[in-house]
Amino acid sequence: MSEESLPFNEKVLPIKILKEEWERSIKNPEKFWAEKAKTIDWVKTWDKVLDDSDSPFYRWFVGGILNISYNALDRHLKTPKKNMLAYIWEGEPGEVKTYTFYQLYREVNKLAKIFKNFGLKKGDRVAVYLPMILELPITLLATARIGGIHTVVFSGFSADALAGRINDCEAKILVTSDGAYRRGKTVQLKETADRALENTPTIQKVIVVKRTRQDVSMKGGRDYWYHDLMTEVEPNVYVQPEPMEATEPLFILYTSGTTGKPKGVQHSTGGYLVWAYWTLKWAFDPDERDIWWCTADIGWITGHTYNVYAPLALGITSFIFEGTPDYPAQDRWWDIVEHHGITILYTTPTAIRMFMKFGEDWVNKHDLSTLRLLGSVGEPINPEAWRWYYRVIGKEKLPIIDTWWQTETGGFMIAPLAGLELVQLKPGSATYPLPSVLAEVYDEKGQPTAIGKRGVLVIKTSWPGMLETLWKDPERYKQAYFGRFPNVYYTGDYAVKDPDGYLWLLGRADEVLKVAGHRIGTVELESELVSHPAISEAAVMGKEDPIKGEVPVAFVVLRSGFSPSEELRANIVKHIRNTIGPIATPEAIVIVNKLPKTRSGKIMRRLLKAVLSGAALGDVSTLEDEASIEEVKATYDELKRQLEKK
Ligand code: PRX
Repeated sequence: MSEESLPFNEKVLPIKILKEEWERSIKNPEKFWAEKAKTIDWVKTWDKVLDDSDSPFYRWFVGGILNISYNALDRHLKTPKKNMLAYIWEGEPGEVKTYTFYQLYREVNKLAKIFKNFGLKKGDRVAVYLPMILELPITLLATARIGGIHTVVFSGFSADALAGRINDCEAKILVTSDGAYRRGKTVQLKETADRALENTPTIQKVIVVKRTRQDVSMKGGRDYWYHDLMTEVEPNVYVQPEPMEATEPLFILYTSGTTGKPKGVQHSTGGYLVWAYWTLKWAFDPDERDIWWCTADIGWITGHTYNVYAPLALGITSFIFEGTPDYPAQDRWWDIVEHHGITILYTTPTAIRMFMKFGEDWVNKHDLSTLRLLGSVGEPINPEAWRWYYRVIGKEKLPIIDTWWQTETGGFMIAPLAGLELVQLKPGSATYPLPSVLAEVYDEKGQPTAIGKRGVLVIKTSWPGMLETLWKDPERYKQAYFGRFPNVYYTGDYAVKDPDGYLWLLGRADEVLKVAGHRIGTVELESELVSHPAISEAAVMGKEDPIKGEVPVAFVVLRSGFSPSEELRANIVKHIRNTIGPIATPEAIVIVNKLPKTRSGKIMRRLLKAVLSGAALGDVSTLEDEASIEEVKATYDELKRQLEKK
């Protein structure tokens, strides 16, 4: 373990505990985590805390045996937490449902029994395609209880995306719903799932939750109603939690990378749970008096860790909301905070910027005095949004916990730690790394950058919540995360360290976009674009957006025989919605005769980016044909004019 100089600077912060904890964790990670992991219930404790003999495949708590559903539920039943609320849920139409830890335990046991009756065994994969309803955490916990591996596909993904993920991990069961509510309307989910199921040979059973009560087709012998199955099973059924090795996978979550195919990020059982537990405790320190509201959908990592595993393991009450922030009115969230007495709000910069646009009056109609902490995640928070959040929501009293992390990291990596020792905040900086995280900013050559100079963020240590590998693709794991610089984890993010040692996260350095906090691979979008019959070449770039952070813009070259039209553009958009999903819809489709390329045939992304941002083009000497960049610019300007006219 490297003995680096500490990232902390005494000038700004007379912090002591944080510094000591961080130092201890770096100097002796095994001792540090052996102490911390005692907060989890183990069937058998580990033989070795960290096995790095096969790095970069790090194995945490080797030999340890535990079950996550036991840690989330059963262990609280012996304490007064048994009758405490685990979840308060509000549906989009306004109904409220609650589950105590005991009630949740009952539901999870019943579903686990159903899974067993269907022949599901340890290690089998369960795919989940559900809206934000409580059957979603129930499904995850029931899967974990019997030792299954879940893979949740966000409900905004298409049939093709769902099928691709199911097939990659060869899931046996799919849990979905008839539909979902969105802005007062119902969205078909089962119909989309049915289209996916035409091409998913491994799926044997489909369990369908009745949510919107719309008509759906049910295939005999394959499709079952969730509520029918749940009433058929003994109400007090007990399913023994499957003893799991700490290093056995808990879930696979697909995320976009720099190549076409999404990456199946594989998380462990033991290390992941320990990291989930401690990161939430350190950063927010929620307890029995709190109502924790993490606004992320469980389809993403934020929802996995901070709507399911961390809060349940800590035994706190979480609030879950099915709807959107502006329906039926632009104060829906503030109504929720007031009505349910939310104490911690953890959300995204995109949501904050949207509320800034709606105006303060919507907020000020409500009493937000129950709030004690605010959090941010998913994309860089610009200082302006930070200040608005601080002033209008936090009334200049509440700290903002800006948490930087990734699907791959399992939990927070860089964040102020209000539960340990709160550092002096700076608007727009996620401050310092958590214990066990040795973060460094590198230049292109792998040397630490000078203070104040932008570089790429790397992590030089292993931490318990770190992904284990990519599902059935260890080579891609090595190449994607450890291929850029030897022996350090490459994050794909730009960062800068300021003179006080604070880290400022500056967005992606690779071909990945963050659109409203959602991770979208430009290469993935490009390969779907060229699968459209009219398109021969495509380049997708992010364009700065005042609300969503950035939005994808597609530059496409048409095949001969096709000519630009509004109809064709609409058809291309429809194609993307069908192949990836509505979340990847490009903001604009710019049809060009030619893409700017280097002499060796590589698309000059830098130039396309400059076109979009209006920045100077810089050196164009390596362009294959300088005229094409002018053409791209002219076409884009023309399109922008057309869009503005509408
Ligand atoms: O670019 C960083 C950005 O989100 C990326 C990870 O995305 P995903 O795997 O979808 O996980 C999102 C939830 C953790 C990072 O590589 N990101 C996340 N949090 C922040 C952030 N960028 C700046 N500040 C943050 N707090």
